[in-house]
Amino acid sequence: MPDMDELKDAKQYYNDMPQKTEGFFLKGSNALDWGMKNRLARIFNPESGRTVMLAIDHGYFQGPTTGLERIDVNILPIVPYADTLMLTRGILRSIVPPATTKPIVLRVSGGTSILKELSNEEIAVDIEESIRLNVCAMAVQVFIGGEYERQSIINMTKMVDIGTRYGIPTLAVTAVGKDMARDARYFRLATRICAELGAHYIKTYYVEKDFETVCASCPVPIVMAGGKKIPELDALTMAYNAVQQGASGVDMGRNIFQSDSPIAMLQAVGAIVHNNEIPEKALDLYQTLKNQS
Ligand code: R5P
Repeated sequence: MPDMDELKDAKQYYNDMPQKTEGFFLKGSNALDWGMKNRLARIFNPESGRTVMLAIDHGYFQGPTTGLERIDVNILPIVPYADTLMLTRGILRSIVPPATTKPIVLRVSGGTSILKELSNEEIAVDIEESIRLNVCAMAVQVFIGGEYERQSIINMTKMVDIGTRYGIPTLAVTAVGKDMARDARYFRLATRICAELGAHYIKTYYVEKDFETVCASCPVPIVMAGGKKIPELDALTMAYNAVQQGASGVDMGRNIFQSDSPIAMLQAVGAIVHNNEIPEKALDLYQTLKNQS
C-alpha cells in the first residue's frame, strides 16, 4: 500500500503549463485514430517524415525474381538497413525471424501471375492474418485504366474499411499496365482516385516531368516505387528528385537487391531520403561502403 500522505505533498499539477496538443507529422493523416497513426509513425520516421521501404514482394506474381531467389541468404542481412519491409505473408512466416522489430507492410492483394491478366486480383489475405502478423500496413494493387480497374479499386476500398476497424493503414500501389502511359497526368489521376477513396498512403512511379504535381494533388503521402534496375547514380538521382519534389520516401526493390552492394545502396538511399543528401554525394557513400564490404 503506498504512503498516501507522502504522495499528497509531492503532487504538482503544473497549472501554468497547458497540455500540448500536437498535430501528427504526416501529410493528411491528422484525423486518423491513434493506432493508425502509431503504425504510420513506425513506417515513416517522425524526425524526417520519410521512409525507406524495402520491397521484396515481387514473387507473389512473378516467382523467384533475380535477387530474391534465396531471401534467407540475400535479403535478411540487408533488412536492418531499411526502415520498413514490404513482403508477402508466405515469405514473412517462412523466412523472417519473428524477433524482428522491423515494421512490416504486408501484400494483401493477389491471385494472378505474369502468365495471365495481372489486374484480375482479389483480396488474398484475411484481416485476421494481418492482425496476427502484427503488420503496420496492408498493400493493395490498384490498376487504374486496367482491364479489372473496378475490381482492384473495390479491393482497396474494402481493405480501407476493414483496416480502419482495427487501426491498420492501407497502402494503395498504383500499377501500370504494359500499354498505359507513364506520365504525370496518369499518376495524378491514379493517386488521387486512391486517396479520395481512402488509401492512407500511395505508392507510385517517378516521372521526369511534373512529378511535383502528382505529389501536390495527392492529399496523403506518396512513396516512390523503384522500377527496373538502372545504374546506381540514376536510381539515387530518381530517389533524390522524388523526395525533393514532395514524395515522403521510397519503396524500392530491384534497384536495391539487384545492386552490386545492396547494403551500401540502402544506406545511400537512406542518406538521400532522410538527410537530403545530393545524388553525387550519396554515390560516393555507396562506393565507399561497397569497397569496405
Ligand atoms: C510490384 O508490384 C511490387 O509491388 C514491388 O513492390 C514494386 O514494384 C516495387 O519494387 P521495384 O522497386 O522493384 O519496382
